[in-house]
Amino acid sequence: MDKLRFLTSGESHGKALTGIIEGIPAGIELSSVDMDKDLARRQKGYGRGGRMKIETDHADILSGVRWGKTTGSPISILIENRDWENWYEGMSPEARHQDAIKPVTRPRPGHADLAGALKYDHRDVRNILERSSARETAMRVALGAIAKKFLSEFGIRTGSYVIGIGGVKAEGAKEKSDAGSLIKTYEKAESSPVRCPDKEASKKMVSIIDKAAKEGNSLGGIFEVFVTGAGLGSHIQWDRKLDGRLAQALMSIQAIKGVEIGLGFGMAGKPGSEVMDEIFYKTETSKTAGRPSGFYRNTNNAGGVEGGMSNGMPIIVRAVMKPIPTLRKPLKSVDLNTKKAFSAAYERSDVCAVPAAGVVGEAMAALVLADAFLEKFGGDSRKETERNFRAYISYLGKF
Ligand SMILES: Cc1cc2nc3c(=O)[nH]c(=O)nc-3n(C[C@H](O)[C@H](O)[C@H](O)COP(=O)(O)O)c2cc1C
Repeated sequence: MDKLRFLTSGESHGKALTGIIEGIPAGIELSSVDMDKDLARRQKGYGRGGRMKIETDHADILSGVRWGKTTGSPISILIENRDWENWYEGMSPEARHQDAIKPVTRPRPGHADLAGALKYDHRDVRNILERSSARETAMRVALGAIAKKFLSEFGIRTGSYVIGIGGVKAEGAKEKSDAGSLIKTYEKAESSPVRCPDKEASKKMVSIIDKAAKEGNSLGGIFEVFVTGAGLGSHIQWDRKLDGRLAQALMSIQAIKGVEIGLGFGMAGKPGSEVMDEIFYKTETSKTAGRPSGFYRNTNNAGGVEGGMSNGMPIIVRAVMKPIPTLRKPLKSVDLNTKKAFSAAYERSDVCAVPAAGVVGEAMAALVLADAFLEKFGGDSRKETERNFRAYISYLGKF
């Protein structure tokens, strides 16, 4: 991240999450509502645990926005943890509360617990698990909503939907090439309890989540994120490549274990003649990708990125989420102090969070794209960015 930078802080049961994003030009309309909508989407999804029911996240804007518009200053956001009152002493920064709750000495398999305790020299695993928790993704979603709002000013849309949970698969959009049908697929998914556009698959997903919950088990799955339009990134250096930046951003989400762009791993089983997206040209202007262009493709196996640059086709990225590691069915582990084996105790947890992870994926993709957009078009104010953007679009039209 270069032009657009952000950081998050906060613990799962601490007082609040905080985030700072810097680089959004002045003059972009922004309110808490823009963020709260996505925060609510992150909290939904069939298979979530009890915590989602006690909390309704709200993004409080602390700086960088005045009278409904960004000022160009860093934007800082606060999301309170509503459960914090119950953790006032347990998560207190003050030394006098240090024995308020018992240390956690039993690392959970599949979490940061053991590696973190050893690496950071903690005898209380809580010092690790509070920060490694996916609670942190609430702030990523809030900051991502700011990036989405910025991109939408230039006709760029982001969305996501679930295409697999457990063994149940739904039709994806890998090879779909037009932005309109992706947006329709996304809108269809928004009314599904598992954020899946395929009704039949949705029903099956709900029932396998019920089955896993009954058995004390958990499930993972696959979601797809798309971004329309653009012409961003670069071929010239490894860390400027858009596909690499997207993969890193998506992979950094808790429990994401694989990322593919376009046909991705499917390319391994096909000959070159079936993988490359051939190039055509027509003299009239195409509005498909939200910008004029005479060049077009009939396929999108590349997922909208070639040579580290978005080629004007929708960017399509998939990510796979592992099953939730906290299970009611106990997993074996070893106590840090006694070195004795135990079966992990169950704490309230999600059975499946793929629908929520998709919302986080959307946020991360938007943050990467907004950064790449600002790299290309720059600008300290909305008007300046727009001038630069329009000039490029008009140049492309004449190319
Ligand atoms: C939206 C979301 C919700 C999650 N909810 C839970 C949960 O309730 N219980 C749990 O054990 N893990 C949950 N996870 C997964 C863990 O945070 C993650 O597996 C853990 O931090 C270890 O990191 P790693 O899987 O990336 O190695 C969730 C992940 C995401 C993205």
